[in-house]
Amino acid sequence: MASRIVAVVSQKGGAGKTTVLMQVAGGLVEAGRGFAIADLDPQESALRWSELAAAAGSGIPLATAVAGDGAGEELRRLARQSGTLLVDCPPSIEHAHTLAALDVADLVLIPVVPGPTDLWSTRAVESLILQRQKRRRALAAYLLPNRVPRTRLAGEIVEFMQEFALPLLPASLGQRNAYAESALAGGSVFQLGRPAESAREEVRGLVRALLTELEKNR
Ligand SMILES: Nc1ncnc2c1ncn2[C@@H]1O[C@H](COP(=O)(O)OP(=O)(O)OP(=O)(O)O)[C@@H](O)[C@H]1O
Ligand SMILES: [Mg+2]
Repeated sequence: MASRIVAVVSQKGGAGKTTVLMQVAGGLVEAGRGFAIADLDPQESALRWSELAAAAGSGIPLATAVAGDGAGEELRRLARQSGTLLVDCPPSIEHAHTLAALDVADLVLIPVVPGPTDLWSTRAVESLILQRQKRRRALAAYLLPNRVPRTRLAGEIVEFMQEFALPLLPASLGQRNAYAESALAGGSVFQLGRPAESAREEVRGLVRALLTELEKNR
């Protein structure tokens, strides 16, 4: 099976890149899919989170920190070894590491918190991706609503997101403490108890949607 590279990208810090990536990792473990994680962010949050997760026996593999000129090649190598590679990026689309990830990614996942400033900064990510797609037509990219509150306004904003040229992944993550707690509990919401079941259902939906798109775009 050909290898697949999924990059999690956003322009604004705190959109939930690392959180989304680690939950997807937990979901892939539950689904019995082999994968690896690469951390391109100099903050190394995915690396630290994965250390806690690996120590807690979550089945989530330790992330590899990737940096420097050969980053793209290193990502391809990790992907060939593992089949599927999840890549965490720094919070800037100008950063050389983000651009390196976009050069080799098959699918870009863009978490968007439904609020005005995140929506504005998503415009910049969108134009960069659309530009890249002219050169690499196989590059798929999806917006993923994250931290969605259960209010009418949020629903309206998710609707507004459909105005973007980039498609919305048919999944979203709500605003839930379980996502933050899971880092300290050593993994993803799959390591938490019963109250986290609704969060797990959201993550299963996200993983299903992601795997479906990866199959489609092969
Ligand atoms: N769905 C969610 N529900 C509740 N809290 C969330 C959710 N997603 C992210 N958070 C919280 O938002 C904060 C930022 O998340 P995270 O670190 O994953 O973002 P990031 O995009 O990786 O940030 P950076 O750009 O700094 O790397 C964290 O405190 C995290 O716990
Ligand atoms: Mg991060």
